[in-house]
Amino acid sequence: MMTEIIKRLDTSLLEILDLLKAELKTYRDYCDLKDAMREWSQGPQDRPSSLLRGTGILGRDGGRGANYDKLHVRLLYQLRYAPAYVSEYRFLYRAIVEEKHVCEPIRVLSVGCGCGLDWASLEAECQPVPGWDGVDIVRWEEDDDEEELGRHFHTADIGMWEPPSAARYNIIIFPKSLADIPESSWKSFLSRLASSFVLDDRIVIAVSYSSERCRSTEVGRLGDLVKRLDGMGFESIDSLQDAPMGVDGRDRGLRKIDPDFHYPDRVIEWLETLSARCPRRSPTSILGQAFRGECHECHRILDKKPILTAWYLWIHRVRMRRIGA
Ligand SMILES: C[S@@+](CC[C@H](N)C(=O)[O-])C[C@H]1O[C@@H](n2cnc3c(N)ncnc32)[C@H](O)[C@@H]1O
Repeated sequence: MMTEIIKRLDTSLLEILDLLKAELKTYRDYCDLKDAMREWSQGPQDRPSSLLRGTGILGRDGGRGANYDKLHVRLLYQLRYAPAYVSEYRFLYRAIVEEKHVCEPIRVLSVGCGCGLDWASLEAECQPVPGWDGVDIVRWEEDDDEEELGRHFHTADIGMWEPPSAARYNIIIFPKSLADIPESSWKSFLSRLASSFVLDDRIVIAVSYSSERCRSTEVGRLGDLVKRLDGMGFESIDSLQDAPMGVDGRDRGLRKIDPDFHYPDRVIEWLETLSARCPRRSPTSILGQAFRGECHECHRILDKKPILTAWYLWIHRVRMRRIGA
């Protein structure tokens, strides 16, 4: 599926659209979709107070909280973001490969990997494809391991996950995931880093930032990680104060930056008019009659174009090396 996103982008998006349409057939309303859209634009500071976190009523302990365990959330996410993020991660992996800081064999740890969009980008930019371990607390796709390609999905909390015994990583990437990790898992990951993870002497830590509202959490966590690695005998080549990698003119269409970037019109049109298809809003439905008054925000929140510009393209990479190696 992921390889197809990059090789047959239009077909894959249309398949995802059909899956989402089929899934939504049984829904009484699109309120869960609206919640997901809201959560994607929120930062951790917008989450409910810590007393209520972890109750299962109001999201997980401190993460941003979109419910990726729900199929419709995963499908909507892929429809709205996949092409833009694949472009962004290609930009990142291309830069890492060109810099030649890490040594062969490359082995990537993708934390909060989702459906593996960054693997698709890695495959596009790096041949032979490096080894890749993707860890996510939610299983986004079934049976998607590719043994011969060295791609492995692991369904686990990164705070508790034990890497395969032979794994020696030189790239650790957080693709739009750093702000989503609950605080307890993040602390546990940092404290287990030295004992559970084998790292090469030359490594790259890469963060693809999420929305503006997550920036301070993500920058803070990147700082925590670099400090932890300092304590494990690494030194940084890049300063955290260096400007993130981005592109000039961030409102430019992604197509101008990445000629492979493409969206089927049908998907854009469907996303832009989503609220009109909600059963609650149907002029003929009794539910619609009853609830229409509560639905005034839906058009503003649900009906959005997917990401078509470079606005979200914000990446930080820090090259580090083991002192004395
Ligand atoms: C915004 S999504 C990003 C998905 C994917 N990396 C991408 O490029 O689109 C954030 C992901 O982080 C995952 N996540 C959150 N907390 C986690 C944890 N403790 N351990 C592993 N993954 C986690 C979520 O399940 C979700 O799939």
